[in-house]
Amino acid sequence: MRQRVAMIDASLSLNTIRIFLHVLSVSVWVGGQFVMLALLPVLRNAGVDGLPKQAARAFQRVAWPAFAVAFFTGIWNIFEVDMANATTRYSVIFGTKFLLVLISGAAAWIHAVSSKPAIKGMTGGLGFLAGLVAMLLGFTLTHG
Ligand code: HEM
Repeated sequence: MRQRVAMIDASLSLNTIRIFLHVLSVSVWVGGQFVMLALLPVLRNAGVDGLPKQAARAFQRVAWPAFAVAFFTGIWNIFEVDMANATTRYSVIFGTKFLLVLISGAAAWIHAVSSKPAIKGMTGGLGFLAGLVAMLLGFTLTHG
């Protein structure tokens, strides 16, 4: 007898839009920092006074709204996920991710307002790494 093949299907739902906005916003936040790191030597050697600062300010104009969208869609995620039935492991991963998100935001803010190169360097690196690991843990929540 011929076996029935399970069909794969897809539909654009509110759920899709929620996850799309979450992943898009965190990609701007984390991916943008990646790109800024790559561009920094070029901006520094361009010989234009203050160019790295101008570029950093331009990035902030998209980075902070993206962080806000990540936070808003993150809270929306919490309402959509059955947290009451989450395993301890899921809760620990989510809690660690949330802490890293807060560290990423706080470090990026200190990085932006500080005038001390050492503080700027340390908080820039910390903010980026915390965001990167938060992203990995985010995918672990949904695909792990
Ligand atoms: C820089 C900040 C953030 C990053 C990098 C990040 C990253 C991610 C990623 C990559 C996913 C997986 C999406 C997928 O597989 O489709 C995810 C899912 C999730 N995130 Fe975030 N996120 C951030 C902020 C937040 C915040 C602030 C919250 C809570 C307030 C949150 C709550 C969640 C939840 C509950 C899920 C699972 C969603 C589901 O299973 O449908 N996230 N996150």
